[in-house]
This record gives sequence, structure tokens and C-alpha cells, in this order.
Amino acid sequence: MPEGYAVKRKLSHSIGRAGLLGRWREWRNRLLAQAGFQRWAAGFPMTRPVASRRARALFDLVAGFVYSQVLFACVRLGLLPMLADGPLDVPAVARRVALPEAGALRLLRAAATLDLVEPRAGGLYGLGAQGAALLGNPGISAMVEHHAMLYADLADPVALLRGEGGPTELSRYWSYAVADRAAGLSEEQVAAYSELMSASQALVAGDILDAYSLKRHSCLLDVGGGEGNFLRAAGERWPRLRLMLFDLPSVAERARERLSRAGLGDRATAIGGDLFHDNLPRGADLISLVRVVHDHDDHAAAAILRGVRRTLPPGGTLLLAEPMSATPGAEPVGDAYFGFYLLAMGSGRPRTPRELFRMLSDAGFQEIRLRRTRRPMLTRLVTARTT
Ligand SMILES: C[S@@+](CC[C@H](N)C(=O)[O-])C[C@H]1O[C@@H](n2cnc3c(N)ncnc32)[C@H](O)[C@@H]1O
Repeated sequence: MPEGYAVKRKLSHSIGRAGLLGRWREWRNRLLAQAGFQRWAAGFPMTRPVASRRARALFDLVAGFVYSQVLFACVRLGLLPMLADGPLDVPAVARRVALPEAGALRLLRAAATLDLVEPRAGGLYGLGAQGAALLGNPGISAMVEHHAMLYADLADPVALLRGEGGPTELSRYWSYAVADRAAGLSEEQVAAYSELMSASQALVAGDILDAYSLKRHSCLLDVGGGEGNFLRAAGERWPRLRLMLFDLPSVAERARERLSRAGLGDRATAIGGDLFHDNLPRGADLISLVRVVHDHDDHAAAAILRGVRRTLPPGGTLLLAEPMSATPGAEPVGDAYFGFYLLAMGSGRPRTPRELFRMLSDAGFQEIRLRRTRRPMLTRLVTARTT
């Protein structure tokens, strides 16, 4: 068969398949949009389970903000740690969180439907499964409190998408996101976000270090390393590893204090500077970028990768860890949550592993690999090498 003919046939076959799929999708959507079909599907025994699952999912989508606010009220009032000490009845809860009894009961019943608390015998309420999981990671409560700012910024998402309106609360909070000269940011301007990052670092660090062994490395430089929690975790696991951190001067100062308090003063150096204006310190055969690249728009992210590439010696390794788009089973976490979060922050976007592979390759990296992490919803890990 002539080559041109084979290509044409393959093309028309795939167009035919895409066309068929497209037509099926249009037919399905027309059907799903009909109130009569919805009623029928909700009643017919064969379609009832799917119909009720879909209806519930749609309702959850509509009501998601309300659920978040129920959670916010629990966190703000300290309800979950209180119930972790043992179940309480409604008057006791009301007294301890300073709510009228009717308000406490309303909150407890709402929180029970979300598994944050659970009713127990004798009119008591105890901690629920999700409430217990949440208490296991203090970073989540810190994020919930922090979301007050995000939701204020998202009050008019259309204006945000159009780039209209003034500076957002998140752009003030993440002061480096829109700063011309980030290196000049004061201690006061970096303290809140640095603490929040530290609070949420525990799960992240463990998952990265479980996914990639640092055994063959001698010196790790954590770029944008915040208060040094990832470095500390790496240092504890690999006692012979030398440790370096690079971050804005006022953040590096915080890291220096914390690393020294953790007894790592001799092994760890924290260097202050600006990723976009200063050279990264040399000497490390491993550089990590943990939750750093997604904070930056494409041209800035590409510059960071090129800077890391130039700094590493031949045979050096980059660890790029962050939540990513198109994570199977956690799709909304990337493009919906981080997509809108970073929009409100004023810079950056979540990227798919494929996009990061391309950027890494453009920056001159080789042997680019996606590593399996325990909780890809929170952190995925890409490694790449220099030659
Ligand atoms: C989202 S935080 C991540 C911190 C830490 N890697 C973690 O995962 O907890 C991003 C970090 O990048 C640092 N950063 C942002 N812009 C920077 C710049 N231009 N130069 C150096 N560090 C910068 C911030 O100060 C912050 O500590």
C-alpha cells in the first residue's frame, strides 16, 4: 500500500472515531439535560444507582462552599480537638465553644453528615473519621483558616478570570508572587506564608523521601526551601548528607535559626538571595524544588529550571515535587483547586507531568522520570539529571 494512502486512511479512521465519540457525547448530553429522562432514570431500577450517584455529585458541586464553611466553623471553634478528648453532649459543646445550644446542635448535625463528628449513644457527639484524619495533620487546619482569604478573592471568579479588580488578599499574603524585587521583602511580609508552608510540609517531605532515595548523594540544596523543614527531614533520614537552603533573605534567616535550633547548624547552610537575580550556590549534587515551580508563570518557571541546570554539576539530579494537573483520581485538585488558587495569588499555574517534562527537556535536563509517590494528590515527584 502506498505510504500516503496508509497515512490518509489512518487519519480518516481517527477522525471518524473522534466524530463518532463526539456525536455520542452530544446525544448523551441531550438526554441527560431532559427533566423527563432524569425522572425516569431516577425511578428505573437499572439506572437508579447511577442516577442517584450523579445527582448527589451534582448537588455536592453546587453546595461545596457550604460544606467548606461547616468545616471552617469547626476549625475556628476548635471543635475537633475538643471532641478528640472524648464525646460531649450538646449543652457541653455549646458552653465550650460559646454558641447558643441551637447553633451548636445545628453545627454538630451538619458536621456529622460530613464525617467530621459522629453521634454517639446517649445524645453525645464524638470525633468522626474525617475529623480524626484532619487532626492527624495540623497543616490541614492551618489551610482551612487560610482559605478565608481565598474565598474572599473568589467572591467574583469571573472578574478574577478577566483580570479585573484590585490586588487580591492572596497576592498580598504571598508577597513574592507579584513583587518586583522579592529579595527586599521584610520579615513581616514573609512570616505568615513561611509558617503556613512549614505546617503543611510534614506529609510532603515524607512522601518525597519515600519516593526517591538520597543514598548516593552528598549534598542537597533546597531551592525556595522555606523554613528548612524539607531539609531537616532529609538530614534526619540521611545523616551524612550536607544541607544547603536558598530562599529570600528574610526567609533564609528564619531557616538558619530553625536549622540551628534543630542541631543542624554544622551541617546546614542557609543562603539568602533572589532566584531571578542571583546565582544559586554551587556545591550540591542534588537540588530540590518543592512546591516552587507551580508558583511561577511559564517564562519564570523556565528561568528557574535553567538556573538549576546551570548550577548542578554533570551527573547532578533535580527533584521537582509539587501537586500537578491531570493526577489520576485527583483531577480537580490540580486544575480546579490549584488553578484558581494560583490565579487568586496572581502568579503560576499547576502543570501536568508532561508539560514539566517538556520544560525540563527544554532547559537541558535528561533522564526525566515521574516517580511514584504515596499521595500523588498532595505531591508528585519528577526527577531529572544533568549530563
Ligand atoms: C510555596 S513556598 C514553598 C516552600 C517550601 N519549599 C515548602 O514546600 O514548604 C515557595 C518558596 O519560594 C520562595 N521564593 C519565592 N520567590 C523567590 C525568589 N524570587 N527567590 C528565592 N526564593 C523565592 C518563597 O520565599 C517560599 O519560601
